[in-house]
Amino acid sequence: MDINEIKLAIEKELGACRADIVKVVDQSSLNDFKGLHLGKKSVCSALFSQMRNVPSESKQIVGKLVVDLRQEISEMFNKKETELKNIALEKQLQNEKVDINLPGYSTKLGSKHPFFAVVDDITDFFVGLGYDIADGPEVESDHNNFEMMNIPKDHPSRDMQDSFSITDELVLRSHTSAVQARVMAASKGVGPIKVICPGKVYRRDNDATHSHQFGQVEGLVISEDATFANLLETLTLLLKHLFGDKRKVRFRPSYFPFTEPSIEADISCFECGGTGCKFCKNTGYIEILGAGMVHPNVLRLNGFDDSKYQGFAFGIGIDRVAMLKYNIDDIKRFYTNDIRFLSEFYKE
Ligand code: DAH
Repeated sequence: MDINEIKLAIEKELGACRADIVKVVDQSSLNDFKGLHLGKKSVCSALFSQMRNVPSESKQIVGKLVVDLRQEISEMFNKKETELKNIALEKQLQNEKVDINLPGYSTKLGSKHPFFAVVDDITDFFVGLGYDIADGPEVESDHNNFEMMNIPKDHPSRDMQDSFSITDELVLRSHTSAVQARVMAASKGVGPIKVICPGKVYRRDNDATHSHQFGQVEGLVISEDATFANLLETLTLLLKHLFGDKRKVRFRPSYFPFTEPSIEADISCFECGGTGCKFCKNTGYIEILGAGMVHPNVLRLNGFDDSKYQGFAFGIGIDRVAMLKYNIDDIKRFYTNDIRFLSEFYKE
């Protein structure tokens, strides 16, 4: 073959390739193209094997022409291959398309359980007055729950709280007053103390307004000059904060073993506003919390010098506050997780 024949053959082959490549529509016709134009039996290979017959002075030129031919065919092949890949990818993307305009699944936002709404409200109120928050265990020693609170074993005042005993020395705490003993022990006889202790307590109780489990917030202030007037002012502020300025607050003398004098605080009835009705048993008032000046025995028992320190304490029932605030008829509703009840408190 002389150089012109080779040039002609190259032109012809290129023409054939151009015609064939446009007919390639898928992987299989692409493979056929490759076999036909780049394989062992292709014009290209034949031209390569012809090289040995080319006179040596033309070898370089012819060699370049054949290499260029193979290069050009390879480029056609590569271009087509990429094109086919892109078409396949495009198709796949179409098939697996996610419509991001579809609305998502909405989750309904819950709201605070009414019990915790009250705990948080009371806590915020006292933190605002500079109180610390103290904690204690629900399984408590008889010692902390009763004895350190001036309720010795076999004392009749134990009957005020019918508790669950675990052993002779362990009870489910019947009131958060037990945390008072822990706080005073940690203070090692040195005041001042200004804490609240929110938490769960347990008693052998069961009716519409009493449950075996309920919540309390205890308060304890010990200093050299905490007075009964401070206690009354603190409680008045608390009750007005919880129930609104219009409620009247009333204090009555009462008895608790750990305070002397002891009082109970009432607020004017929600139903009748103070004139007397079935709800308030015709008293016009509803009992809301217990309080008093820390009994000197309690100070002494817990390592405080009662000639130097004095203080006040109070205990308020969380469930009771929530029941009054939200007009809830049965304390068990707090603990049965009924979504119909809880959803009453959802905020949209
Ligand atoms: N611990 C009392 C109870 O559960 C409530 C109470 C009354 C707490 C007077 C106090 C207090 O700290 O001073 O019934």
